[in-house]
Amino acid sequence: MVKVSVPATSANLGPGFDTLGVALDLRNIIEMSETGILDVVIETNGHGEALERPENNMVYLAAVKLFERLDYQPHGLLIREEIGIPVARGLGSSAAAIVGGLVAGNSLVQQMTGRPGLSQAELLAMAVAIEGHPDNVTPAMVGGFTVCCLDEVRGLLHVRFDPPRGLQAVIVMPEVPFTGKKTEKSRGVLPTEVSLKDAVYNLNRTALLVAALAQGRVDLLSVATQDRLHQPYRASLVPGLRSVFQAALDAGALGAALSGAGPSVLAFVEGNAEPVAVAMEGAFQWAGSDARSLVADLAMEGVKVLVGPGASSSDGAHVDRAPYWG
Ligand code: HSE
Repeated sequence: MVKVSVPATSANLGPGFDTLGVALDLRNIIEMSETGILDVVIETNGHGEALERPENNMVYLAAVKLFERLDYQPHGLLIREEIGIPVARGLGSSAAAIVGGLVAGNSLVQQMTGRPGLSQAELLAMAVAIEGHPDNVTPAMVGGFTVCCLDEVRGLLHVRFDPPRGLQAVIVMPEVPFTGKKTEKSRGVLPTEVSLKDAVYNLNRTALLVAALAQGRVDLLSVATQDRLHQPYRASLVPGLRSVFQAALDAGALGAALSGAGPSVLAFVEGNAEPVAVAMEGAFQWAGSDARSLVADLAMEGVKVLVGPGASSSDGAHVDRAPYWG
């Protein structure tokens, strides 16, 4: 049996569309083992039958791609998922499933065969190919803040660095009805061309955001999280988005952004999480959506093998601070 822990992530962080991401200390735990009986069994902690069907389960589908790549045929598979990352809320649940499935599958092949398996870089390249964009799977794999670039010749290039100490994320999740392919729908409202003025606006903010985070200049985050490439268009899918940003800043947040493709909103805070969460929930409610919130530390570590080849600690213990649920 192998067991991995994989973090939630927030992509874009405002201006860094398809480029920036951060890992959050809110995790899914995945166990994978061979049963000896040629069958696939998937168990989740109460997330319903649909997610437990192999054809819908991204952990399983990613693991199958890994097994194919390594030319390995497992003898029956049992996957147990303890899902702590809210599904389809813009918190990287599909990236976590892909990264978790690839890393668990890789560790299982190593355990069963003694072969070396794939490197982290090879696993990350597979994860990007499956997900289609790199900004969630990269921090899910390596933790911290990540800057990604998909180069036509060199493939994925990324730089990871630690977030400033003490910075936390308030995540507010509105109950807006996203059904089916949520990210696809949220990308579908984006324009195919933008003005030079808007492109320059985002270049300014993206560069400022990376420099501010790298140097701990949290005073710059309110401007550095502004965006004109995707959030203004996605506001049509997330009622109250602008007023939620404003409510977060008015309550003392350092900066605020749509988390990934939404619908959740992330606000950066330093120690004043609760009033920010309450203000953001209130703004969503004013706009007609019930909302719930959580506060998460930023995660220094990405996916971790807890049990199995490549485990990062001998006893498999891993303790995360429990998230605060509002
Ligand atoms: N960069 C992607 C998007 C993230 O904004 O569509 C999706 O989670």
